[in-house]
Amino acid sequence: MKRTLASLEPAWVEGKRALVRVDFNVPLAGGAVADDTRIRAALPTIRWLRDRGARVVLLSHLGRPGGRPDPAQSLRPVASALEGHLGIPVAFLADPTSDEAVAATRRLPRGGVALAENTRFHAGEERDDPDLAARFARLGDFFVNDAFGSAHRAHASTAAVAALLKPAVSGFLMEQELAWLGRALEAPKRPFVAVMGGAKISGKIDLIESLLPKVDAILVGGAMACTFFRAQGLETGTSLVEPDRVALASALLDRAGPRLVLPSDAVVATALEPNITTQVVPSGRIPAGWAMYDVGPRTVLAFADRIAAAGTVLWNGPMGVFETPPFDQGTLGVAHAMAEATRGGAVTVVGGGDSAAALAAAGLEGAVSHVSTGGGASLEFLEGRDLPGVSALDDAPPS
Ligand code: 3PG
Repeated sequence: MKRTLASLEPAWVEGKRALVRVDFNVPLAGGAVADDTRIRAALPTIRWLRDRGARVVLLSHLGRPGGRPDPAQSLRPVASALEGHLGIPVAFLADPTSDEAVAATRRLPRGGVALAENTRFHAGEERDDPDLAARFARLGDFFVNDAFGSAHRAHASTAAVAALLKPAVSGFLMEQELAWLGRALEAPKRPFVAVMGGAKISGKIDLIESLLPKVDAILVGGAMACTFFRAQGLETGTSLVEPDRVALASALLDRAGPRLVLPSDAVVATALEPNITTQVVPSGRIPAGWAMYDVGPRTVLAFADRIAAAGTVLWNGPMGVFETPPFDQGTLGVAHAMAEATRGGAVTVVGGGDSAAALAAAGLEGAVSHVSTGGGASLEFLEGRDLPGVSALDDAPPS
């Protein structure tokens, strides 16, 4: 367990500069924030600090500028979006390594907020450079990490800085993410069902391997199912198959036995185009020249039944190419089944990235127990890997 923000005495927090690592790696379009989910997710921590008279200094990366300034990946549009949410001006620290930035943090009023420019404009960030971390550390009197989405990165603003600026505690979003994902893994209400999708089995092997001993069933959709079909010696047409993973898929099928559930039917087409002619075929009978782009309706019903009967459901990865209708039906079917299971009392957790986007597209974000704000981070956590951004924080005192 890590020390949390709530463990800090309000009288101690008052007037101090809180250096808060957030994950404001948000999509931009036309110079504005296109999706503010991650900004909204950080507001409880920011508000808690402001309400206690802290001066809040926010650090984040945006995109992958490669250690050099790039105006197209500036956090300035995020500062404007944040002003809209908080209703106060947000000071922008154009160079967080400068003396001027330190002076600006000292000028902040109690409850004031500043946002520093993209940490990845500095080459030392991704090297976890202690010198850069020391520069960041000058911007605060204590450190809060609320950037769950970046917790799998050992970078100067997530890891090294936590060794220099004490106390170093977790923010509310970080705490919530670790609690939901941790509870699902360690004490799941049973049956515990994982729904796994996506194009490639290669990105999900570690996840399947680490979940297999814990779950009652893994339901597999998406193009990755085709690599399993090939391992079973079935016809896959022109579907995406990873030939170098077929042996591994076969070994996983042997190990998992009936716990690994593959689609019984598939929606196939001759090309990935919107509103192209499709057929529904039994899986394993994909005709030559046709490829699977979604799971079929019988599969959706079967998966929905499994989800409805589950006590805990963990969903990671779409069932088909949901961005291209009509290949969105399998993913939408799972999204609705997740919402239904939640209404029935199941604990339902959605890993970030594509499945979160599909849930949002179905308007069902609020209809499940928890949607993670971390794509790669939630994957690594569920794989049982160490998250450097979490490990670097102070341990909670023994209770
Ligand atoms: C994410 O969007 O998954 C996080 O912000 C991490 O970004 P990165 O993959 O560029 O490190």
